[in-house]
Amino acid sequence: MFIIASDHGGLELKEAIKVSLAERKITVRDLGTMNSDSVDYPDYASKVARAITHGEAEKGILICGTGIGMSIAANKFPGVRAALITDEFTARMSKEHNNANIIVMGGRVLSPEQASAMVSVWLDATFEGGRHQRRLEKISEIEEDVRQGRI
Ligand code: RB5
Repeated sequence: MFIIASDHGGLELKEAIKVSLAERKITVRDLGTMNSDSVDYPDYASKVARAITHGEAEKGILICGTGIGMSIAANKFPGVRAALITDEFTARMSKEHNNANIIVMGGRVLSPEQASAMVSVWLDATFEGGRHQRRLEKISEIEEDVRQGRI
């Protein structure tokens, strides 16, 4: 499953991305927010990130004003690799090198056109594996070491 969520700062961009995904016949489940009332981004980061951690979704998109708060919150969840992307280059790298399972964007930073192009680049890119896989395994080891109180 493919899921998306935003706070009020990312609402407009979320709606624009949904339109561009629909044009590509890609189905995405919207976990909110659904209106412009002020909400707290950690609540929406949690909805998407917990689904990734528990294997209920394969990939997700999070949007807040800058993308920063959503990134910080989502990356607290084990197994989440949430990448704050800023352009098409970082969108591609987030998949090829980091195998990001969540991309994060700033609704007050990017235009709908920029963001839609970045989402397409991320979806079309392929993880390169090899040395990048080794590095991701080191991140997983860090998560486990922290959980076990070893570091
Ligand atoms: C909300 O005003 C704003 O702080 C939020 O959308 C985000 O940019 C936080 O990182």
